[in-house]
Parts: sequence; structure tokens; C-alpha cells
Amino acid sequence: MTDAAKEAVRAHWDATPCGTRDLSPDDRRAFFRELEDERYALEPYIKPFARFWEGRDKDVLEVGVGAGTDFMQWVRAGARATGVDLTAQGVALTQERLALEGLSATVTQGDAEALPFDDARFDIVYSYGVLHHSPNTPRAIDEVYRVLKPGGRARVMIYHLYSWVAVMKWAMHGAAKGRPQMSLREAVHDHLESPGTKAYTVPEARALFGRFRDVAVRTQLGHGDLLLMRPSERYPGRAHQLLWRAWPRPLIRLLGNRFGTAMMIEATR
Ligand SMILES: C[S@@+](CC[C@H](N)C(=O)[O-])C[C@H]1O[C@@H](n2cnc3c(N)ncnc32)[C@H](O)[C@@H]1O
Repeated sequence: MTDAAKEAVRAHWDATPCGTRDLSPDDRRAFFRELEDERYALEPYIKPFARFWEGRDKDVLEVGVGAGTDFMQWVRAGARATGVDLTAQGVALTQERLALEGLSATVTQGDAEALPFDDARFDIVYSYGVLHHSPNTPRAIDEVYRVLKPGGRARVMIYHLYSWVAVMKWAMHGAAKGRPQMSLREAVHDHLESPGTKAYTVPEARALFGRFRDVAVRTQLGHGDLLLMRPSERYPGRAHQLLWRAWPRPLIRLLGNRFGTAMMIEATR
């Protein structure tokens, strides 16, 4: 595990904070509204998972705030909310949103693998789509445990290995390029979002949260599995357009959440 690996992750997310691609940044209020509307339209399962309303009058930490959409929900719900992100961009965007709404909360640049907080400080630690990007995911999960109060709850989404997104990455970068021996893990590691992304099986996730009690793990079909979002400009080619058109969405829906990319984990310290 090198600092270079973490620096590559930071550089990726500083360049394009999560969800902001292709949105016009000129009118700031419209930009943030669109970001929020799009997020919960594409991922309606986030709110029931996060249960932001339970943050009221609680000490809540969000690890990896990104552009801050979920963080705003914690703050609006009346949580004593603290946010960290590896990137200056994520912190700046989240602070800008708070200022636009006349709200205040602490948001700082920090590393999930070395959280700048005392032990047993938070009632809820929430982290959505973040810890699998950090080079040492087990260390980041140990940090979640450390900063939770005894009895406190972790709500964490990390990527599921046996998922349509992983298969798609393998098909595009392995099979279609004459490298069918490429593993799903390699496809995710080299081609899903920031460099070095990991995905886990359900038993692996349970092992990662082995220190916690009352661990519940489920997988959720997401917009990435169904290719519901706008096609990325990174893939302008015909093969990609064809994939977008031919993707077997009805079959994927029929098979349900089992092969979803989002692995939702709830656990108690
Ligand atoms: C896919 S985005 C998710 C952002 C937000 N949670 C969301 O769902 O939109 C991943 C975020 O994780 C952050 N991140 C990655 N590694 C991190 C680390 N070690 N410590 C803190 N944040 C990290 C990135 O900077 C980026 O903002």
C-alpha cells in the first residue's frame, strides 16, 4: 500500500467529484438541485438505507462526502454532522452547499484510513461508495469501528463483486479485447472509477465487519447495473453505444438484487 495509490485516488475524485459529470456548473443552486434530484431518482434506495431522519440530535460522521448530497440530508435532518473527504473539491462543494442553505456543519479534508477523531465519538458513521476506493479498506473499516460509540451504528455501502457492473467491465476490457482470462476483480480494480477500486463477496464483507455485532448485509441492483445513467464521454465508440442499446435490462431486473453492485452493510459497534 503506497502513498502513490492514495494520491491516484485523490487526483481522480478531485478532477470529477462523484455525480457532477455533465452537469452545468454555472447556476450554483440549479446545479446542486439537479445533482440531488438525479441522485435520488437514480438511487431511490439510498434514503431508506441511510435513514437520515434518525440523525436528529445525534453525532453523525459521513466518511467520503463527495459533492455532499447525502451530507446535506444529515444536516437538514438536524444531526450534529461532521464530514470528511480525501479531496479539497469534495470539501469545498459541500461547504458551498451548506453556505447556500444557511446551514453549518464541520467538513474537513481527511483520510478514512486515519480519521482525525477521538475514539467513541459518533452515534452513526455513514459512508456510501467510498471505502472500496481507499487502498487499505480493512483499515478504513477499523477506523469506522474505532470512532463509533459502543452501540453506535455503521451504515456503509461498498461494491459487490458478483455484480452486473463487474461483468460489464470484464466484458468491455477483458473479453472484448481478447483477454477473457482477466478476473472480475482485475476488471474492477483497473476500470471502475478511481484506480484500484475493490469489490467484495458477501462473506468477505461479513469478514471485514467481523469486529461488529448485528451485521446485516444485502446487495442492491443499482443504476450502473441497469445502465440507466448517461453514457460516459470516456467511451464514445460504437461498441459502447451498442452495449448501451443491447444491455439486457429486463433480464437483469427479473433476476433481482442478487447481482447488484451496491452492497449495503449495517452493523453495530
Ligand atoms: C464515488 S465517490 C462517493 C461520494 C459520496 N459518498 C457519494 O455517494 O456521492 C467516492 C468519494 O470517496 C472519497 N474517498 C476515497 N478514498 C477516501 C479516503 N481514503 N478518505 C476519505 N475519502 C475518500 C473520494 O474523494 C470521493 O469523494
